[in-house]
Formats: sequence, structure tokens, C-alpha cells
Amino acid sequence: MSSPALSKTPPRAVAAEAAARPALLLAWYDRHRRRLPWRPPAGERADPYRVWLSEIMLQQTGVKTVGPYFEKFLARWPEVEALGRASLDDVLRMWAGLGYYSRARNLHACAVAVLRDHGGAFPDTEEGLRSLPGIGSYTAAAIAAIAFGRRTMPVDGNIERVVSRLFAVEEPLPQAKPLIQQLAATLLGANESESRAGDSAQALMDLGSSICTPKKPACALCPLNDDCVARARGEQETYPRKAPKKTGALRRGAAFVVTRGDHLLVRSRPEKGLLGGMTEVPGSDWLAAQDDHAALQQAPALKGVARWHRKAGVVTHVFTHFPLELAVYTAHVPARARAPEGMRWVPVATLGDEALPNVMRKVIAHGLGK
Ligand code: ADE
Repeated sequence: MSSPALSKTPPRAVAAEAAARPALLLAWYDRHRRRLPWRPPAGERADPYRVWLSEIMLQQTGVKTVGPYFEKFLARWPEVEALGRASLDDVLRMWAGLGYYSRARNLHACAVAVLRDHGGAFPDTEEGLRSLPGIGSYTAAAIAAIAFGRRTMPVDGNIERVVSRLFAVEEPLPQAKPLIQQLAATLLGANESESRAGDSAQALMDLGSSICTPKKPACALCPLNDDCVARARGEQETYPRKAPKKTGALRRGAAFVVTRGDHLLVRSRPEKGLLGGMTEVPGSDWLAAQDDHAALQQAPALKGVARWHRKAGVVTHVFTHFPLELAVYTAHVPARARAPEGMRWVPVATLGDEALPNVMRKVIAHGLGK
């Protein structure tokens, strides 16, 4: 939990800089805020319905994609009453293309609940908002801050990056989330009546998307560059720290490299799942702790193949979720041998035209002795 900015009593100059941050951020936002369809003109109150609608759409989708959908929804259902009276089918049809359809179901259920349980007005506290369908803690904080001026900071991925750099948070994500939340809140104005929490949050979102970007941040343009700890160290791109991905257990299997003259036996993987639809040589399941014997039992049935030749060594490959070790077996079949059902012969010379994943390139190279 060590953050240099928090662990010691700050010297007076540092404390003064810290106190200046909320105002610097808001001044930057007033000049550079993105014009987005759900944001009212500067100084005007945000409409809770628009804020809610946009926040639900933005949960798993980028600003550019959301824009046209937001406009379409608003034109068709200008108020929460209208949306609450629409049919779920119509809402789903309008949502088509945005993905994550449970959001559309919850959107509709939420509009119905706002009409039925809240007289058509969104609750104006985080707690009240959280009780509605489709509104979790992040979205509740975003709506409470942006639509109702509540002094709370919704922390999304952009804000995590800005804050982890500004304070050089050494703890990796996701464990660092509570600390980052605490540090992000220090960027809000001092009290609810004076603070513009929604603008502070959106300022950090905009800063993260336009200046404090994952790669090559434009620090020279940042309103907080003077006291950004990561920048002072020249290490801004290395934050936020991330815990090394845990790799799963080693899986093992067998791959069968079968040649018929200058042709190779291949098949396509199922459309769904890992390497969906890509080309592979026939093989066994890939299972944790599978032994060679069990894997060899899954060799394709081929006329004229009395025994498989096991190549020395194994092919290893690391997928995001697990490392894989494949034993490679080879066989040659006579000129007119048929491919088993679901498999086909392809000339080795045109393998480059196949959708071959890297693991299969390695297997084939090993099997053909290249
Ligand atoms: N992402 C989520 N909420 C947002 C907002 N209000 N402005 C910009 N990006 C966002």
C-alpha cells in the first residue's frame, strides 16, 4: 500500500500543490471538455435520464459507438416515462448491435421501476440508484455525481490510469482499486456545495482518454503535470502496475502430423471457443495431467497406419490461460488414402493460405522436421 504521496506527512509545498489540483482539473475541463451528446452545455444541469441512459450504454462500449445509439434512443423515447412504457422487444431491437444485451433488459426494467416505484424520478443518492436494475456501484456513483452533484468519484479505467500515475501507486491492479478510489476522491472539490463532482469525474475521464493515454501520454499538455510523481520519475507509461497474469495448470495432449505425399491432413476447429474456426492437424483433447497413452488413443483412424512414430521432444505453447505441451506423432499414408470424416488434405506448399494458429505452425514444423 505504499504511496509516497500518502505515507508521509506532506511538506507544505506538496500540500499546497495537492490542494490546487481540483481547481486545475476543473479549469482544464472548462476549456477542453469533449462535446458529447449526453453532456449539457457548460454550467447547465444534466438531465438524470440522459445521464443514466449514457452511463448504461457506456458500461461496456466506447464513446464513439455509443453516440448514435444514444441519439436514436432519445429521439424515440425522450423521457424515462416513454421508455418505461415501451415494449422490451422494441428496446432490444433498438439496442441491436451494441452487444451485452442484458444491459438492454436491465435498462427497460430500470425505466419500469423508476415509473412504478419512484414516480418517474430517478433516486438522487448512490444507495437509491444502486437499488435499481443494471446500476452497480460505479454507475451509481457516476449518475449521482454527474446528474445530482453528489460528492463522489466514479473510478473507471481511464481514471485508474490517471490516478495511479499522478500518485505513483505501486500496488498492482486489481488490488490497488480501494487505494486508487481513495486517492481519486482527493481530486474532488472540498465540499458538496462547492464541488462540481460530475465535472471533476468527467475531467479525469477526458484527461485519461485524450492526454494520459496508455501509451505515449502527452504529459506536456496535462494540467496536473507539475506534481505527477510518475512523470517526475520518467516512468509514466509503467503505471498502472498490474499483477502478473496467473497462468493455469499445464495441459497436455498429442498432435498427429499425417502426410500423403506432399499433402498434410488437417481439419477446422469448432467455430466457438479457443482458436475458433482455425485450421489444425488432428489431435487429442488438451487436458491437465493427461498422459501420453490416453492422448495417443485419440489418434485418427487411418487405413494403412499400423503404428505412429513419436517425434523426440515436445512442442510447447503458452495461451493466455494455460501453457500447453504437445507430443507430436507422424505417419505417412499411401497415395490414394481418404481423409477421415471432417478432415481434408492440403498441399504443404499452400499451408500459408490456411488460418494456422502459431501453436499449429510449431507442431507442423516439428512434425515435418523443419
Ligand atoms: N465513460 C463513462 N461515463 C462517461 C462520461 N460521462 N463521459 C465520458 N466517458 C464516459
